[in-house]
Amino acid sequence: MPFPKDFLWGGATAANQNEGAYNEDGKGLSQQDVMPHGVRGPVTSGPTPDNLKLLGNDFYHRYKEDIALYAEMGFKVYRFSIAWSRIYPTGEEEIPNEKGLQFYDDVIDECRKYGIEPLITLSHYEIPLALCRKYDGFRSRKTISLFARYARTVLERYHTRVRYWLTFNEINVTLLSPLLGAGVLTPKDELSASERYQTAHHQLVASALVTKIAREIDPELKIGCMAASAPVYPMTCDPADMMKMMTLQHDLDYFIHVHCEGKYPYYAEKLWKDQGVVLDISEEDQVILQNTVDFISFSYYSSRVTAADETKYRTANGNIMRGLRNPYTEYSDYGYPIDPLGLRYILHYLYDHFHRPLFVAENGIGAKEELIPDGNGSYTVEDDYRIAFHRSHIATMKQAIEEGVDVFGYTSWGPIDLVSAASAEFSKRYGFVYVDRHEDGSGTLQRYRKKSFYWYKELIAANGEERTDHE
Ligand code: BG6
Repeated sequence: MPFPKDFLWGGATAANQNEGAYNEDGKGLSQQDVMPHGVRGPVTSGPTPDNLKLLGNDFYHRYKEDIALYAEMGFKVYRFSIAWSRIYPTGEEEIPNEKGLQFYDDVIDECRKYGIEPLITLSHYEIPLALCRKYDGFRSRKTISLFARYARTVLERYHTRVRYWLTFNEINVTLLSPLLGAGVLTPKDELSASERYQTAHHQLVASALVTKIAREIDPELKIGCMAASAPVYPMTCDPADMMKMMTLQHDLDYFIHVHCEGKYPYYAEKLWKDQGVVLDISEEDQVILQNTVDFISFSYYSSRVTAADETKYRTANGNIMRGLRNPYTEYSDYGYPIDPLGLRYILHYLYDHFHRPLFVAENGIGAKEELIPDGNGSYTVEDDYRIAFHRSHIATMKQAIEEGVDVFGYTSWGPIDLVSAASAEFSKRYGFVYVDRHEDGSGTLQRYRKKSFYWYKELIAANGEERTDHE
């Protein structure tokens, strides 16, 4: 039996992608409320009707129904994020917004009612817009203490009911999209390399500071980092391709290393020097960074390919991290590579390098889908490709566990349809549950179980050991 009996099966969402209710009960705006086209379009001066993030899938009003669906699938864990701007609407209030705190009290209690372990991301691509406007998000050091204060508030409130916490979602994305990852409103191409790395440094210090605070509040808490972990493959065995692969892999390792070793890796100095980066790292920062994490969580959607001379090859599609087209993998409707073995590879890689328990915090496939009658008077989606995607990835995760890697949980991305992070579409669906909402914001919001819903339910019931006798 490779999966431990208490293996945490479940799903993951983010507040700005599913809650909606963007201005209810005292919530302030976040950078997401002015990004109607995700990372692919301009920032607006305020909320606009074409921004689906304002609506989400209406989890704010339907959390009971949605958590009941998760319970029906047998979830052991539900990863969700807290919208910082529900708790501190501008990030700088003296007193937190009680209605915001109450909402997450209710969500946590609803999970616990079914025996579902909540796993909370403190900042999933979400920073109060007022802090983005005043301080350019984490570009300013000031934002570190404001984040720590917000984190202290929610840790103190929920620590007896929530054991697992993540600091920043996909922290390494800050270098690629400072707006998404760190709330930096200055356009990326106007930032120097020093400013981008300094922003990332502030987040790394904030992450370690919150880890310290969490331990002081409750030594039983388990704190993890979270990184977007597409392993990098060389296009050929040309040693120059191999070295390029190593350099790109360092971009990911850089962040995990700091979280696990409490300091920058040996190659950081050279990496900074090559880009003319000069960082302000105080002695106090260095002491704070020593508060390392208990576990590593990561998202895995696909691997990516690189070469010393990338101009010789075709590129593959991807969200924020794109690579070259891999001739050996299949591709999703969106042109993203599908590489189940890459999950086994990255699990080994991370465990071998950083020696921490691992949690697969996101994995899934986005597709355009339509409802069809289910023959029982309702509707469904025949999403066999989604079943195949999760089945093949879970199979390689199982192999990694059999090979000795310590993996303690797996949350599928978007167990229910929600708004996309990169492009802010609703029609890119990841869910086991279909939500009747369309690209123009219309729809009944009714929830429908897809074919994959029943498959995942059965898989969890068998603790990852699929029954094959009925297929
Ligand atoms: C991850 C993010 O990068 O990818 C999620 O943590 C995001 O927030 C997911 O939704 C899938 O990306 P997208 O853009 O297809 O929603």
